[in-house]
Amino acid sequence: MKETLINLKNQAIAQIGDTSTQEELETIRQEMFGRSGKITKITRELKNVNKEERKEIGILLNDIKNTLQNVISTKSNNLKNSTRTWFDVTIPGKKPKIGHLHLVTQAIDEISKTFENVGFVRARYPEVEWDWFAFESLNMPSDHAARDEWETFFVDTPKHPKFGSMVLTPHTSSGQVREMMRVGSPPIRMINIAKCYRRQIDVSHYPMFHQFEGLVIDKGISIVNLKGTLDYFAKNFFGENRKTRLRPYNFQFTEPSFEVDISCDICSGNGCKLCKEGWLELGGAGMVHPDVLKAGKIDPKVYTGFAFGWGVERTFMMKAGLNIPDIRLMYSSDLRILTQY
Ligand code: PHE
Repeated sequence: MKETLINLKNQAIAQIGDTSTQEELETIRQEMFGRSGKITKITRELKNVNKEERKEIGILLNDIKNTLQNVISTKSNNLKNSTRTWFDVTIPGKKPKIGHLHLVTQAIDEISKTFENVGFVRARYPEVEWDWFAFESLNMPSDHAARDEWETFFVDTPKHPKFGSMVLTPHTSSGQVREMMRVGSPPIRMINIAKCYRRQIDVSHYPMFHQFEGLVIDKGISIVNLKGTLDYFAKNFFGENRKTRLRPYNFQFTEPSFEVDISCDICSGNGCKLCKEGWLELGGAGMVHPDVLKAGKIDPKVYTGFAFGWGVERTFMMKAGLNIPDIRLMYSSDLRILTQY
């Protein structure tokens, strides 16, 4: 009898230890202490045990009851306190969310690397700039109609006697003459990437955006060098199969001037919904105007150069497969957009 009781106790303790839910624990409690539970039955049968043994068995039985009740209530508390009853330590942990560079920063890095690989030097010039650098030195005196294209923000400050009003740079071309002044004498191979500001906002314009401006000046620089550089960029930034073409245009600070197009990646130049007859417009370019070289104290009889200036966001949006429908999304801080890139 004693042995049966001790076995019963040990068995019950093991079973209680194995439970992982309150329900399982309750089942064991019933099996022991319920109306027809094992302990209940034995208690009932105690009167049939002979007198000599009865006392000893009674004490043991009480002891077992107390022990089991304690074990059950401890286990019940443990089950309540733990949210997990089983824990696999080999499961890989959850990675904390980390951010990444903004897509415009990624684009700037990629653009500057592409040009640095062929010897361009990254430059940056003031984003709050004198009118002279932004317009006047680029062949656009203050009353020139061409200025209308750059919807400029003017800063309310006294005018500089030589450089005129203060503006927020409407294009990175404002760095051209600054670079000529900094370097002194050619060769110049500049890539100037900076913020620009214009009073425009719609699906393809934002009042603050970025441009990258290339400027190359040396002896014997011609349109061939410009075209070669543009093709190099197109292939390296957009893909091996992309081509560029030059369309005649007018800028006051280049002569001749062009608009640069890149072949559409979707239809490879055949024409589709995204493009104009197979071409997408990238931005402006041209051969540096002699007057601009003169403003930068470079002799146009000895040196020639080319320049190009495009929007970073616009160029990035043209990368195949990106499909960003609205430039404003890039600056929306909406993580559903930003985390995709
Ligand atoms: N600055 C011009 C623009 O903002 C682009 C350009 C740069 C054109 C250099 C020619 C040469 O549109």
